[in-house]
Amino acid sequence: MKKTILVTGAEGQLGKSLQAIVHNYNDLYHFIFTDVDTLDITDREAVRSEVRENHVDIIINAAGYTAVDKAEQEEAKAFLLNETAVANLAAVAVEFHAFLIHISTDYIFDGQSHTPYTVESIPNPISAYGRSKWAGEVAIHQSGCRAAIVRTTWLYSPYGKNFVKTMLKLADSNPEIRVVNDQIGAPTSAGDLALALMAIVNHQENISTIETYHFANKGVTSWYDFAVEIMKLADKNCKVLPISTDKYPTAATRPAYSVFDLSKIESAFHLHIPDWQISLKQIMPDIIYHYSNNIL
Ligand SMILES: NC(=O)c1ccc[n+]([C@@H]2O[C@H](COP(=O)([O-])OP(=O)(O)OC[C@H]3O[C@@H](n4cnc5c(N)ncnc54)[C@H](OP(=O)(O)O)[C@@H]3O)[C@@H](O)[C@H]2O)c1
Repeated sequence: MKKTILVTGAEGQLGKSLQAIVHNYNDLYHFIFTDVDTLDITDREAVRSEVRENHVDIIINAAGYTAVDKAEQEEAKAFLLNETAVANLAAVAVEFHAFLIHISTDYIFDGQSHTPYTVESIPNPISAYGRSKWAGEVAIHQSGCRAAIVRTTWLYSPYGKNFVKTMLKLADSNPEIRVVNDQIGAPTSAGDLALALMAIVNHQENISTIETYHFANKGVTSWYDFAVEIMKLADKNCKVLPISTDKYPTAATRPAYSVFDLSKIESAFHLHIPDWQISLKQIMPDIIYHYSNNIL
């Protein structure tokens, strides 16, 4: 019998990237895609009814409060979605024996490391967003549900708002732009993350408790070099100049170093994770199409 997968936050970057690949999995799974207008995950009773009535076996939580700078002003709102709502999903997963896949972030770390963060590295968030996301992970651990927590970094896709689309927009109205070159990480295609999540789904019966995984595209770069690559691939005539973080103040402090050790997820699910440049090149035409036609 087909298992039923409930996706929350399905209109976001990751949610839409999941929607784009599910045709490959329709023989095995029945998918229910929801977003805040159809299932507000801050409402525990609504989550209970959805899971009970649809006999949901697996929940993929692609919802989240992701406005990193705004979170400094509205921390309670960030915690409501990134902690309380996650606790709701975890409690309902326990009650109905569902498996929960939840997405977390490099922002739970302080970015002071000089070697890639492993799943055993100690979290120490330095922003309201980071604190709220770490609180969500803690809530899952406290619930005792069966779950996979998948931390990722620097997500982009053809959908919604992200760094790649911001660079395209800036390039259209500026001959040159300045981008920070002292924050290091890995740009990650939400499409590649979606494939990794489906690999976890396919093996979820082997996970008996809670497992944490790190997923990002391979390789390491700075926001500056990422921007240079975007301009090159999009054939934009916009000069990118490197600046340091202290010259580009933002409300939230970002981790200076966001590199993940990917070995656990690679070996657990036999993943071949593409290098960030390969994935960016592959998906760029679709991003340009969405950007040019003003499709979110
Ligand atoms: N973006 C990144 O760079 C990045 C990096 C690392 C980790 N992550 C994590 O990856 C996950 C997915 O990120 P993303 O970039 O795909 O996020 P996103 O594009 O911001 O999408 C989140 C979705 O959740 C929806 N949502 C908001 N409130 C909700 C509610 N109460 N109930 C149900 N859905 C609700 C949003 O709707 P509205 O748009 O209407 O609010 C939106 O459609 C998040 O957990 C995020 O923390 C993201």
